[in-house]
Amino acid sequence: MSDLTPADAELLAAADEVAARAYAPYSGFQVGAAVRARDGRVFAGCNVENAAYPLTSCAERTALSRAVAEAGLGPGDIEAIAITASPCGGCRQWLTEFRLERVLYRRADGSVALSTPAALLPDTFRV
Ligand code: THU
Repeated sequence: MSDLTPADAELLAAADEVAARAYAPYSGFQVGAAVRARDGRVFAGCNVENAAYPLTSCAERTALSRAVAEAGLGPGDIEAIAITASPCGGCRQWLTEFRLERVLYRRADGSVALSTPAALLPDTFRV
Protein backbone atom coordinates (compact mmCIF):
# COMPACT_ATOMS: atom_id res chain seq x y z
CA MET A 1 0.00 0.00 0.00
CA SER A 2 1.46 3.37 -1.05
CA ASP A 3 0.35 5.35 2.06
CA LEU A 4 2.70 3.38 4.31
CA THR A 5 5.43 5.51 5.85
CA PRO A 6 8.91 4.15 6.59
CA ALA A 7 7.86 4.07 10.28
CA ASP A 8 4.83 1.96 9.35
CA ALA A 9 7.00 -0.47 7.42
CA GLU A 10 9.35 -0.75 10.41
CA LEU A 11 6.42 -1.47 12.72
CA LEU A 12 5.13 -4.19 10.41
CA ALA A 13 8.61 -5.71 10.30
CA ALA A 14 8.61 -5.79 14.12
CA ALA A 15 5.23 -7.55 14.03
CA ASP A 16 6.54 -10.10 11.54
CA GLU A 17 9.59 -10.74 13.71
CA VAL A 18 7.64 -11.38 16.91
CA ALA A 19 5.10 -13.58 15.09
CA ALA A 20 7.83 -16.18 14.67
CA ARG A 21 7.87 -16.57 18.47
CA ALA A 22 4.11 -17.11 18.82
CA TYR A 23 2.95 -20.03 20.95
CA ALA A 24 0.26 -21.46 18.69
CA PRO A 25 0.37 -25.26 18.90
CA TYR A 26 -3.40 -25.63 18.48
CA SER A 27 -4.24 -23.39 15.54
CA GLY A 28 -0.79 -23.28 13.99
CA PHE A 29 -1.65 -19.66 13.18
CA GLN A 30 1.16 -17.38 14.31
CA VAL A 31 0.25 -13.73 14.74
CA GLY A 32 2.45 -10.76 15.63
CA ALA A 33 1.59 -7.20 16.59
CA ALA A 34 3.73 -4.18 17.36
CA VAL A 35 2.58 -0.87 18.81
CA ARG A 36 4.41 2.45 18.52
CA ALA A 37 4.03 4.93 21.34
CA ARG A 38 3.98 8.67 20.69
CA ASP A 39 7.53 8.89 22.04
CA GLY A 40 8.68 6.31 19.49
CA ARG A 41 9.00 3.29 21.76
CA VAL A 42 7.86 0.02 20.23
CA PHE A 43 6.27 -2.90 22.12
CA ALA A 44 5.67 -6.19 20.37
CA GLY A 45 3.55 -9.20 21.21
CA CYS A 46 2.45 -12.51 19.75
CA ASN A 47 -0.49 -14.83 20.30
CA VAL A 48 -0.18 -17.24 23.23
CA GLU A 49 -2.57 -20.17 23.06
CA ASN A 50 -3.93 -22.48 25.73
CA ALA A 51 -5.40 -25.99 25.73
CA ALA A 52 -8.57 -24.31 27.00
CA TYR A 53 -8.92 -22.42 23.72
CA PRO A 54 -10.84 -19.30 24.86
CA LEU A 55 -8.02 -18.45 27.28
CA THR A 56 -5.75 -17.64 24.34
CA SER A 57 -4.23 -14.18 24.28
CA CYS A 58 -4.23 -12.50 20.88
CA ALA A 59 -1.09 -10.79 19.62
CA GLU A 60 -2.65 -7.31 19.77
CA ARG A 61 -3.63 -7.71 23.40
CA THR A 62 -0.19 -9.05 24.29
CA ALA A 63 1.49 -6.04 22.67
CA LEU A 64 -0.86 -3.52 24.28
CA SER A 65 -0.52 -5.21 27.66
CA ARG A 66 3.26 -4.95 27.39
CA ALA A 67 2.99 -1.21 26.70
CA VAL A 68 0.89 -0.88 29.84
CA ALA A 69 2.99 -3.14 32.07
CA GLU A 70 6.44 -2.04 30.93
CA ALA A 71 5.89 1.67 30.41
CA GLY A 72 2.63 2.60 32.09
CA LEU A 73 1.11 3.70 28.79
CA GLY A 74 -2.61 4.13 28.39
CA PRO A 75 -5.27 5.47 26.04
CA GLY A 76 -3.89 8.30 23.91
CA ASP A 77 -0.24 7.34 24.42
CA ILE A 78 -0.04 4.87 21.54
CA GLU A 79 -0.11 6.11 18.00
CA ALA A 80 -0.05 3.06 15.79
CA ILE A 81 -0.26 -0.71 15.65
CA ALA A 82 0.85 -3.13 12.96
CA ILE A 83 -0.65 -6.62 12.89
CA THR A 84 0.28 -9.57 10.72
CA ALA A 85 -3.41 -10.52 10.33
CA SER A 86 -6.81 -8.87 10.35
CA PRO A 87 -7.75 -8.06 13.97
CA CYS A 88 -10.54 -10.09 15.55
CA GLY A 89 -13.66 -8.45 16.94
CA GLY A 90 -12.44 -8.45 20.53
CA CYS A 91 -9.12 -6.88 19.56
CA ARG A 92 -10.98 -4.18 17.63
CA GLN A 93 -12.57 -3.22 20.95
CA TRP A 94 -9.09 -3.05 22.51
CA LEU A 95 -7.84 -0.82 19.69
CA THR A 96 -10.77 1.47 20.39
CA GLU A 97 -10.05 1.50 24.13
CA PHE A 98 -6.45 2.65 23.58
CA ARG A 99 -7.48 5.27 20.99
CA LEU A 100 -4.99 4.26 18.34
CA GLU A 101 -4.80 6.46 15.26
CA ARG A 102 -3.26 4.15 12.71
CA VAL A 103 -4.08 0.47 12.37
CA LEU A 104 -2.07 -1.45 9.82
CA TYR A 105 -2.81 -5.06 9.16
CA ARG A 106 -2.03 -7.67 6.57
CA ARG A 107 -5.03 -9.14 4.82
CA ALA A 108 -5.30 -12.82 3.94
CA ASP A 109 -4.30 -12.00 0.35
CA GLY A 110 -1.05 -10.44 1.59
CA SER A 111 -1.99 -6.83 0.93
CA VAL A 112 -1.62 -4.32 3.76
CA ALA A 113 -4.58 -2.28 4.97
CA LEU A 114 -4.34 1.08 6.71
CA SER A 115 -7.37 1.78 8.89
CA THR A 116 -8.67 3.28 12.12
CA PRO A 117 -10.43 1.80 15.14
CA ALA A 118 -13.63 3.69 14.23
CA ALA A 119 -13.65 2.24 10.71
CA LEU A 120 -12.99 -1.26 12.03
CA LEU A 121 -15.61 -1.06 14.78
CA PRO A 122 -18.30 1.60 14.36
CA ASP A 123 -20.74 2.66 17.11
CA THR A 124 -18.45 1.21 19.73
CA PHE A 125 -19.56 0.23 23.19
CA ARG A 126 -18.28 2.72 25.77
CA VAL A 127 -18.97 3.22 29.44
N1 THU B 1 -5.36 -14.23 16.75
C1 THU B 1 -4.65 -13.12 17.12
O1 THU B 1 -3.58 -13.24 17.73
N2 THU B 1 -5.14 -11.91 16.80
C2 THU B 1 -6.31 -11.70 16.11
O2 THU B 1 -6.78 -10.58 16.00
C3 THU B 1 -6.96 -12.84 15.47
C4 THU B 1 -6.64 -14.17 16.07
C5 THU B 1 -4.84 -15.55 17.11
C6 THU B 1 -5.63 -16.22 18.20
C7 THU B 1 -5.34 -17.68 17.95
O3 THU B 1 -4.16 -18.05 18.63
C8 THU B 1 -5.08 -17.76 16.45
O4 THU B 1 -4.89 -16.43 16.01
C9 THU B 1 -6.21 -18.40 15.66
O5 THU B 1 -7.41 -17.79 15.93
